[in-house]
Amino acid sequence: MTSTKNILCIGAGYVGTPTMAVIARHCPHHRITVVDINAERIAQWNSEALPIYEPGLDEIVRAVRGRNLFFSTDIPAGIREADIIFVSVNTPTKQFGAGAGMAADLQYWEKTAREILRHSQSSKIIVEKSTLPVRTAQAMERILQAAGDGIRFDVLSNPEFLAEGTAIDDLENPDRVLIGSQETPEGLAARRQLVELYANWVPRERIITSNIWSSELSKLVANAFLAQRISSINAVSALCEKTGADVDEVALAVGMDHRVGRHFLKTSVGFGGSCFKKDILNLVYICRHYGLTEAADYWHGVLRINDYQTERFVLNMLATMHNTLADKQIALFGFAFKADTGDTRESPAIQVARRLLEERARLVITDPKALGNARKDLAGLDGRVRYEEDPYAAAAGADAIAVLTEWGLFRDLDYAKIFQAMNKPAFIFDGRNILDHQALFRLGFNVQAIGKPPLNRFMD
Ligand code: NAD
Ligand code: UGA
Repeated sequence: MTSTKNILCIGAGYVGTPTMAVIARHCPHHRITVVDINAERIAQWNSEALPIYEPGLDEIVRAVRGRNLFFSTDIPAGIREADIIFVSVNTPTKQFGAGAGMAADLQYWEKTAREILRHSQSSKIIVEKSTLPVRTAQAMERILQAAGDGIRFDVLSNPEFLAEGTAIDDLENPDRVLIGSQETPEGLAARRQLVELYANWVPRERIITSNIWSSELSKLVANAFLAQRISSINAVSALCEKTGADVDEVALAVGMDHRVGRHFLKTSVGFGGSCFKKDILNLVYICRHYGLTEAADYWHGVLRINDYQTERFVLNMLATMHNTLADKQIALFGFAFKADTGDTRESPAIQVARRLLEERARLVITDPKALGNARKDLAGLDGRVRYEEDPYAAAAGADAIAVLTEWGLFRDLDYAKIFQAMNKPAFIFDGRNILDHQALFRLGFNVQAIGKPPLNRFMD
């Protein structure tokens, strides 16, 4: 497609901006505008200090901003001028009324649909980028049907599969791009336009199309499958701790079967992030809605194991440290939900921190990118929580370290120096299995990893 299009993205978040930045890079002939109701966020996108940390994003934004990528709060103007509108607003779990705690809260998404309707003066393609329950596109179409004569909206589903921390690479080299549409002549024509947009950089064989409901459901199911693998290996880790098997050895042996595959079998303190939990809850809710109780219970089990894993981690800490944490100082290494992001949404670190505070521990938190968000997550608990940029300062005087995020920098620290500065006996709880446990044990630490026999100096 070489004709110039005005592309609008509503929602300047973790998905909207990286996606539009990559489109802008590969489609210099198109003009792309990202709008948001959050004026502060837009101001940050227009400044030198971008609001989110994502490897590689700064460089792209600097290269295309002001050329063919623009950030604005003028949503009506953006809608009026757009040929294609991506909707990338947040769709959190509903906290009130019917479906509270399970269903998707569609209020932001619906407001967007109504804004599009109010300000449109010409026909447009609307692209669902947000993760939505199955059949939401139909609801979107119903809202938009109220448009005046001569204005037509074709709604496509184009779920995003990027992961934070690798977003730019995922967008540059996606495993697949999925585009769902109505299978009417107009729907198929709209679908072709979006295929052509992606074909500017994505090989055509990786751009797959489907009916709109398959597309919406595939997104929920993809996340459920990924999370299910983590819960499977985490369930195995509990058994390993009882039997003396090593979960990393089991994961290697199982994952080398090409039918299983080695990715997403890394045991952990639990998965976090803004989407796995909410999307599985959404899937469970839909199954229940259709009376599929067994299917709903199956997927709900993925979340139950995840909570169990985080709680097990805390209880292991308590048991290993002689059943009391009161007034002990614990350094939390990492607060982000995964490495290479400052995002802490649904991070297991939040739950671990709260539980340790209930046990009256004192916490010192260190993280290279997430301290700002950690402060917000633990607001009101300031008396018992300190924040340190420097991991050595965080560990000084501590009784224990708990590794909660798999940041590479935690692997490369001088643990002999850290051991010297800690209270004795000194404990390390590796919630990500990233450290060299034998080496730490030789330095004098008591070491408890996940799904491995403890290296505990008190046992014999
Ligand atoms: P986010 O919270 O970072 O960004 C959403 C943005 O939308 C916010 O800046 C918010 O102010 C804005 N917004 C809300 N209502 C608006 C309105 N009416 N008009 C204009 N702007 C509005 O969320 P996110 O992480 O980017 O996720 C967005 C969607 O993408 C969700 O549905 C999520 O499930 C999905 N998704 C997220 C990821 C991820 O890694 N974060 C990956 C794939 C899919
Ligand atoms: C996930 C999916 O990987 C994306 O494909 C999807 O687009 C996205 O959700 C979404 O819909 O939001 P994300 O949550 O950003 O991406 O990051 P992941 O790499 O999937 O990690 C999620 C959590 O699982 C993290 O807490 C991570 O530490 C944990 N994890 C991951 C494990 O505990 N073990 C693993 O083997 C892999």
